[in-house]
Amino acid sequence: MSIYRIAPSILSADFARLGDEVKNVIAAGADWIHFDVMDNHYVPNLTFGPMVCQALRKHSSAPIDVHLMVQPVDALAQAFCKAGADLVSFHPDASAHVDRTLQLIKAEGKQAGLVFNPAAPLDVLEWTIDKLDLILIMSVNPGFGGQSFIDSALRKVEQARKLIDAERARSGRDIRLEVDGGIKVDNIRRVADAGADTFVAGSAIFNTPDYKAVIDAMRTELAR
Ligand code: DX5
Ligand code: ZN
Repeated sequence: MSIYRIAPSILSADFARLGDEVKNVIAAGADWIHFDVMDNHYVPNLTFGPMVCQALRKHSSAPIDVHLMVQPVDALAQAFCKAGADLVSFHPDASAHVDRTLQLIKAEGKQAGLVFNPAAPLDVLEWTIDKLDLILIMSVNPGFGGQSFIDSALRKVEQARKLIDAERARSGRDIRLEVDGGIKVDNIRRVADAGADTFVAGSAIFNTPDYKAVIDAMRTELAR
């Protein structure tokens, strides 16, 4: 398998048929299922909670990648671990005690990630990177699908790639570098060139009738 992972965001799926949407997008070649949790407090939108994750767990043969856009974080992070999430990521500015939240997720035996908004610096990585399995760079402001890619995210991806490579040289551990927001067939290659290995795509996949055609086209771009 290539190093690249494609993680369709079910935020743009048909919420009336979520189980089928998850199955269909996995059959179309999805590597992970990206699960956007919004609380109408940290972000101005409201989606789904741990009960929906638990219900979808049995429809997904792929890892469930939970992106928490909630504040406070800890109780929901734990609830999603228990609801069958494989990876749980949160925004460090939403947690009162970032290290504690990471410890909670790791104690549940799950992979942990930190998410960085377009205007957020990467400083906190200096003290957390040794505990992370994933770094998620936002290339839109969180809250909605279908927004346009913010180009400054590419520079941040390059910075994060350097930190990940340094951590791998130090500890031998690898950390996934995921990008979320506005990813399409025509820009995925640029995002990979900046150093990303994992790509969230919501509207680009679910707003078309043929999920496989889009995922295949993304893989062709990545193989170029
Ligand atoms: C935004 C979410 C994204 C979003 C991506 O807050 O985190 O995962 O659904 O959607 P597209 O690919 O449509 O930008
Ligand atoms: Zn997301």
